[in-house]
Amino acid sequence: MLPGPTNVPDSVMNAMLQPMINHRGADFHALYSEIEANLKYVFQTQNDVFILTSSGTGGVECAVTNLINPGEKAIVPVFGVFSERLAEKIKRRKGVPIELNLPWGTAPKASEIKEIVEKEPEAKAIFLVYNETSTGVTARELPQIGKIAKENNMLLVVDAVSVLGGDHLPVDEWNVDICVTGSQKCLACPPGLALISVGPKAWEKIGKTTNKPMYFDLLQMKESATKKETPFTPALPLLYALNEALRLVREEGLEKRIERHKRCAEAFYNAINALGMTAFPKGKENRSNTVIAVNVPEGVNESNVRETMREKYKVLIAGGMGKLKGKIFRVGCMGTVSQTEVMTTINALGNALKDAGYPINTEEGLDAARKMF
Ligand SMILES: Cc1ncc(COP(=O)(O)O)c(C=O)c1O
Repeated sequence: MLPGPTNVPDSVMNAMLQPMINHRGADFHALYSEIEANLKYVFQTQNDVFILTSSGTGGVECAVTNLINPGEKAIVPVFGVFSERLAEKIKRRKGVPIELNLPWGTAPKASEIKEIVEKEPEAKAIFLVYNETSTGVTARELPQIGKIAKENNMLLVVDAVSVLGGDHLPVDEWNVDICVTGSQKCLACPPGLALISVGPKAWEKIGKTTNKPMYFDLLQMKESATKKETPFTPALPLLYALNEALRLVREEGLEKRIERHKRCAEAFYNAINALGMTAFPKGKENRSNTVIAVNVPEGVNESNVRETMREKYKVLIAGGMGKLKGKIFRVGCMGTVSQTEVMTTINALGNALKDAGYPINTEEGLDAARKMF
């Protein structure tokens, strides 16, 4: 129950046992075409989509290095570890991140973005983490932010590593020019692939970017894609896995999958409330459906509780990152998550807290969660 990597269905694991094939041959072309079509379905886009042999960080770095020239400004709302990293990537590229620093637990509002867009007319892009995995916050005003980007002829780049496939993100409808996700989160595939969509406005800008990286050169990926190939040797076993994982998403249907994530998230939040604990995000509107961040109760040692959960109850959850280390628990509500996983996790968390001497009635949490199913 980590916020990635998440549990992988058997058929996805088994897909990786297929023999290696020529990545410049007909079998690969067929595999690539199938993945490409299913990615467009999951991203809800007509834009180009690419498969990168790298983790999510590589995907985000690919977006930054293909778009930003030295000295160029880009707006970055910073409200957790991953948005901090995004700003850092822009700095390392010698770009100038215009940071909108927000209290952790909150999300950027469209009005705040509008204000900063008006103040910084030189900024030509907005880089946004849609789901801040470090705080369990989703930027619910993304559609309005997309409109602002469009009206101001700015690019909108979205880090959707911990959310795509688990919550709403219609890339074209919301004017997202570049969207990045990772294989190991809501798609329930093993780690190791980043997936990226690139729209026409982004291509225009990419054509003007100097000193693009070699491995992550999007223009080269676009050219290879005309042959249904990747520029360099792809991680074939992971592509087999991704193909099966995407087939499962299609089989379930994206809307149903998103609904399932939402229901499981609500069950978690109900249970937390019933157990007398609180979610870390400030306000229900900021809460993520894919990462459940919970405040550690006063006097409880977070890592001891997680260790009991791991060893005695066989459930893995994560702790806080950065300045939230020791202060929150984070539960992944992603991929194959269902009633079974939700109930097992609540049971494990409640019992581990009780084992640590914290007065808690696990049954109350379980009852509250059960109501959602
Ligand atoms: C929002 C977000 N962005 C980027 C990343 C980085 O992905 P990876 O660890 O796959 O490189 C993560 C990983 O958890 C994430 O949650």
